Amino acid sequence: MAALLRSGTRVLVILVLLVTLVSASSQSSFERQLSVQLNPGRTSPPGGDLLHVRALGDNDTLHYLFCSQGAPTLLLVHTNSSSSTVQVDWPLFLARNTSGSLRVEPESSILSSTAVVFSRLLEYDDVNDTADPTSDLFPPYELQNFTWARLNLTGDGARLCGAVTNASSGVLCLQLSVFESDGRGQTWPRLLHTSNSSQLEVWIDGLLPRATRSRFLLELQSVGGAYPLSRVEVHRSIDDEYTPSIFKASHWVSAANGSSDGRSFVQWKPVAYRRSDPALEEATPCSHSEPRPQSAGTTAAASGLVRAFYSALDPVGINVSFGLAGEPFYNSTGFLSWTLVVGVGSPPVDSFSPLVVAIMAVALGSLVLLLLLGGLWVGLSKKPADSTTAYEPIN
Ligand SMILES: *[C@@H]1O[C@H](CO)[C@@H](O)[C@H](O)[C@H]1NC(C)=O
Ligand SMILES: *[C@@H]1O[C@H](CO)[C@@H](O)[C@H](O)[C@H]1NC(C)=O
Ligand SMILES: *[C@@H]1O[C@H](CO)[C@@H](O)[C@H](O)[C@H]1NC(C)=O
Ligand SMILES: *[C@@H]1O[C@H](CO)[C@@H](O)[C@H](O)[C@H]1NC(C)=O
Ligand SMILES: *[C@@H]1O[C@H](CO)[C@@H](O)[C@H](O)[C@H]1NC(C)=O
Ligand SMILES: *[C@@H]1O[C@H](CO)[C@@H](O)[C@H](O)[C@H]1NC(C)=O
Ligand SMILES: *[C@@H]1O[C@H](CO)[C@@H](O)[C@H](O)[C@H]1NC(C)=O
Ligand SMILES: *[C@@H]1O[C@H](CO)[C@@H](O)[C@H](O)[C@H]1NC(C)=O
Ligand SMILES: *[C@@H]1O[C@H](CO)[C@@H](O)[C@H](O)[C@H]1NC(C)=O
Ligand SMILES: *[C@@H]1O[C@H](CO)[C@@H](O)[C@H](O)[C@H]1NC(C)=O
Ligand SMILES: *[C@@H]1O[C@H](CO)[C@@H](O)[C@H](O)[C@H]1NC(C)=O
Repeated sequence: MAALLRSGTRVLVILVLLVTLVSASSQSSFERQLSVQLNPGRTSPPGGDLLHVRALGDNDTLHYLFCSQGAPTLLLVHTNSSSSTVQVDWPLFLARNTSGSLRVEPESSILSSTAVVFSRLLEYDDVNDTADPTSDLFPPYELQNFTWARLNLTGDGARLCGAVTNASSGVLCLQLSVFESDGRGQTWPRLLHTSNSSQLEVWIDGLLPRATRSRFLLELQSVGGAYPLSRVEVHRSIDDEYTPSIFKASHWVSAANGSSDGRSFVQWKPVAYRRSDPALEEATPCSHSEPRPQSAGTTAAASGLVRAFYSALDPVGINVSFGLAGEPFYNSTGFLSWTLVVGVGSPPVDSFSPLVVAIMAVALGSLVLLLLLGGLWVGLSKKPADSTTAYEPIN
């Protein structure tokens, strides 16, 4: 009996330790100092803005460059120096025909670089509600041909909105957020971020669909240095506390194994929302295509930033498709938003939240308590049973 109690207490103590450990580990955080500069060395350049966010660590710097010269592009350059700088040769940069017109110096300090280009928005008529994005495609919207408004600075990030030049209405917007420390997005899908990553929310609002049963796809291209992002891994979780009904996260990473030094990633949850302030019914699942090599010339021509920074490139592209068969069509709300995180190192992984750990602890604790009570009951009811002759022989 005493032994049972002792082991029960031991289990409870271990559980309490576990809860404290998990909640403590989720609080430690590495911080960066952020500084934001719009169009460094130039005011209101024609053809699109260039935002530079410097995220300074102890011995390293992350340079985030976000640009609307052509297709919207985020370039992330990691250096091993706290004094690296970004140099832009504006006349060449604006001509969009010379690599090296945007440089990060000293070049020897560059640990890694990754660019994500939002190249095209595709629309198809899902007449049979099969959500098969290969049939009945309309001519794509080339995002390089959108008319982009000036960047609107919002705290530690910026908002970029653009429209089809001859469209009567509707916009496609991107909201970039860069972070000082680890945390989680304020709105669904409430993605986890670290001080080594940034978040981009992309949405289309009010764009006139070309069919009543239209669905959309977004084409992204990544350009990297030593470790091209060549595969998408789908990670499963049993915890959907932060993103209701979504139990997966997709990590677009390089195929090489080993340490995460010099790596970058793009991460998202396979969900989009049909309203800007969504209820659960407005969540719509997404799927992605296999990463495919793209033409270097096309990508460089689409993105002024890629052209300016890279001399040689191996772009890889994916399509993210919004909505599955049976889901409401785009015309139900005329709005779609999707969020991704871009960073260096390994993608952050959801650990069990303290709430879920607490629930599990309580559940396990009650189980232990039940076992103890059960043991007690057996122990108490054993004595009288011992004093009487137990069983009659069966003939
Ligand atoms: C940064 O560099 C200094 C000097 O080389 C070193 O003492 C310090 O530990 C480094 N800090 C980190 C966080 O790596
Ligand atoms: C880039 O374009 C400018 C003007 O459009 C032109 O003068 C220059 O020769 C071009 N440079 C290259 C390398 O093509
Ligand atoms: C990192 O810093 C050291 C010392 O400043 C330098 O020699 C080295 O080339 C840098 N770059 C990389 C990629 O390690
Ligand atoms: C839709 O269904 C009809 C009838 O089954 C078929 O003829 C047509 O090819 C289908 N369209 C597409 C785009 O799959
Ligand atoms: C987009 O712009 C490029 C370059 O200006 C042009 O070659 C292409 O035809 C345009 N695409 C569309 C769909 O308008
Ligand atoms: C910039 O954003 C603020 C707040 O969202 C908004 O009120 C303002 O109209 C925006 N300005 C432009 C030029 O889009
Ligand atoms: C824009 O104009 C071009 C040429 O006039 C036309 O081919 C294209 O379909 C138009 N796009 C939209 C979305 O109306
Ligand atoms: C972020 O980068 C810094 C410096 O490279 C590193 O010390 C830290 O562990 C990284 N944090 C995460 C969450 O990867
Ligand atoms: C959207 O299109 C579907 C299919 O044609 C139609 O049944 C529905 O009424 C439309 N919804 C809206 C809000 O226009
Ligand atoms: C990476 O590791 C996985 C499993 O550990 C293996 O299947 C895969 O072939 C490895 N890839 C490379 C490029 O080594
Ligand atoms: C995205 O889908 C469109 C239409 O099916 C296709 O033309 C394009 O090549 C796809 N892009 C990628 C990167 O797979």
